Amino acid sequence: MLLEWLAPVYDRYCKVIGLGERFRTDTLRHAQLKPGDRVLDVGCGTGVLTRLAQDAVSPQGTAIGIDPGPAMIAQARDNARAAGNRAEFRLAAVERLPFPDASFDVVLSSLMFHHLPPETKREGLREVLRVLIPGGRLVLVDVGKPGHFLWWLVVWPFLLMPMTAPNLRGEVPIYLSAAGFAPVETNGMRWRIITFWTAVKPKTNTVVT
Ligand SMILES: C[S@@+](CC[C@H](N)C(=O)[O-])C[C@H]1O[C@@H](n2cnc3c(N)ncnc32)[C@H](O)[C@@H]1O
Repeated sequence: MLLEWLAPVYDRYCKVIGLGERFRTDTLRHAQLKPGDRVLDVGCGTGVLTRLAQDAVSPQGTAIGIDPGPAMIAQARDNARAAGNRAEFRLAAVERLPFPDASFDVVLSSLMFHHLPPETKREGLREVLRVLIPGGRLVLVDVGKPGHFLWWLVVWPFLLMPMTAPNLRGEVPIYLSAAGFAPVETNGMRWRIITFWTAVKPKTNTVVT
């Protein structure tokens, strides 16, 4: 896994690059969590957002983080234990979620989507839709289409990579709508590149072909 080596220092690294507490609070604000909610954090890494979600839904609610990186999951469990936090962590990938249909009120996806090639993006969103309750919401925060031309000087090589190109071309909302989410909203940006989206699983059944 690409970021496994970073697991022991990942939380400190995030703070240093400016993705600390405030970024996490902003992400959770879009989730509108309530005590008692069941939350899934896909691609949870070391679980920083999962732990904050668990705090927001306690005492009855649950927050579960999944990640395919064994070092990330081990670190997430250690961090939660050290913080006395009840969040749970499981080794799994977003494209094959080990949960029954309609098991979660809210799904979080933070800085994970740009790691997935196009077909896995589609499979992952289908799985997220499946495990959400009707009316449940996905909060997705990730790299989007740069909001300032100077960013292109830095990010243009990533247009050549299948994982990052759809994000940079501004196609994340297209993927969300194609998976069957409606409405899909863009809720602002950080540094004119990290973008917050919310996407709702419709209450009525829609067939996506
Ligand atoms: C940049 S980290 C983000 C971690 C955390 N969500 C955060 O906001 O700090 C990206 C994470 O996505 C995970 N990841 C990569 N492919 C994945 C997949 N197919 N399903 C779920 N997670 C995946 C990686 O293992 C890594 O932990």
